[in-house]
Amino acid sequence: MEGLHEGDKVIDDSLQGSATLLDKVETEGSKKLYLESYGCQMNFADSEVVASILANEGYSTTKNLEEADVVLLNTCSIRDNAEQRVRNRLTHFKRNKEDNPNLVVGVLGCMAERLKKQLLEEEKLVDLVAGPDAYRDLPSLIDEVDDGRKAVNVLLSREETYADIKPIRLGQNGVTAFISIMRGCDNMCSFCVVPFTRGRERSRNPESIVEEATELFNQGFREVTLLGQNVDSYRWNMSSKGRIKDEAKPTVNFAQLLEMVAKVSPELRIRFSTSHPKDMTDDVLHTMAAYHNICKYIHLPVQSGNTEVLERMNRTYTREWYLNRIDAIHRIIPDCAISTDVIAGFCGETEEQHQETISLMKEVKYDFAYMFKYSERPRTLAERKFEDDIPEEVKTRRLTEIIDLQMSHSLEHNQKNVGKTFEVLIEGTSKRSDEHLCGRNSQNTMIIFPKGNLKAGEYAHVKVTDCTSATLLGEVVSKEVIPA
Ligand code: SAH
Ligand code: SF4
Ligand code: F3S
Repeated sequence: MEGLHEGDKVIDDSLQGSATLLDKVETEGSKKLYLESYGCQMNFADSEVVASILANEGYSTTKNLEEADVVLLNTCSIRDNAEQRVRNRLTHFKRNKEDNPNLVVGVLGCMAERLKKQLLEEEKLVDLVAGPDAYRDLPSLIDEVDDGRKAVNVLLSREETYADIKPIRLGQNGVTAFISIMRGCDNMCSFCVVPFTRGRERSRNPESIVEEATELFNQGFREVTLLGQNVDSYRWNMSSKGRIKDEAKPTVNFAQLLEMVAKVSPELRIRFSTSHPKDMTDDVLHTMAAYHNICKYIHLPVQSGNTEVLERMNRTYTREWYLNRIDAIHRIIPDCAISTDVIAGFCGETEEQHQETISLMKEVKYDFAYMFKYSERPRTLAERKFEDDIPEEVKTRRLTEIIDLQMSHSLEHNQKNVGKTFEVLIEGTSKRSDEHLCGRNSQNTMIIFPKGNLKAGEYAHVKVTDCTSATLLGEVVSKEVIPA
């Protein structure tokens, strides 16, 4: 998703289920691993941990399926269509397996956790199933398969954060990287499968996070995105190794962690995702305002603009609370861009309630949004308590209205930017032309401009000359000198 597709301001219901560029980079080693990732940024970050664990066993990654000894799919369960896409892929791999009986095919991630043995037993599509907290066990699971057995480990952990594992940066541009700062989720949004697939929330030792950011900076990376399902509830107690036993002991919260990472270097940009409206504090906003290198961009999923629907979704905030958080962002960080997630057609959503989502969008005017049709997920509160009663065609129509409105807002934002000059971190060559470079401004909008003598990893001042709803086009005014 974000960061992986140039100019990805195209709104797409399948966004979080799209295959990625992760398997593009090949690493050295005798046995070959073909790794494909679906879902959110956390899954991409996990795939880099998996590549690292298996690199220690002599595996190198390949993008060529034919030469693979092991094929792993890191999967997503967030919506039904995300799972369908993986099933289609697995059926495809089954044919590869017929050609090469020694090929090991495994499923990782959220679908592995949700379906557990089902993929091995009932569907016979795979040899190996490993949940998100079981990746250290992958080498022995692969050995089991090599010995002729099916292998499964879907144990969830209360402690695992893979803090000591140095991820192998796959699909990299050498400039931007993800850092997981926590795992799991303790919220129980009634529509969401994540608490079941990722387990309990736990934070990662801040020292290991700062160390990873420092190493990335020393390797030439210039932007890190701190990842968690709800970064605002990041909490680490220095004396009890994370678990909050004694509130009197020094604790690191998210605002403090942000500051620690921002201090690594003024030339290292910091982004983060995802913020939760119920937990996002003014402290975090003040820290963002205080550091030039913390990007002025917040992803604040609203899901619905109607308080009753929000209650059924168990989001634990009201429309008014959410709008108050938006006001706080504007007040403390006037140049901050804001994006969101919206669900169309949740259980019992009336036409008036849908219109409240529309009116909230008009009030906030998001820079960008991910928009989805509600998809009922097994075991969730919504599946147990409410009927998925909005007809498919109504969901589709409401989603289309939401998407059309967002497109017009994105275009409006971009048009307002024409004539302005932004500091851009160059990520690489534009996909559309070798003669152009692309990079994002602090607000996370992609800008494309003629190459000149600049290169990836450098900062530049770019003046915007033209735009589409997805991208800004510009020209370099000067090479940037970052203030110390
Ligand atoms: N932790 C993040 C979101 C993770 S899932 C948060 O709390 O905001 C990413 C997005 O997928 C959600 O924000 C939601 O908009 C969407 N989503 C989750 N479950 C869904 C479902 N069952 N149907 C449709 N969209 C869903
Ligand atoms: Fe899902 Fe809610 Fe947790 Fe986000 S905060 S991962 S939507 S349960
Ligand atoms: Fe999907 Fe799991 Fe992420 S369900 S969105 S891969 S946490």
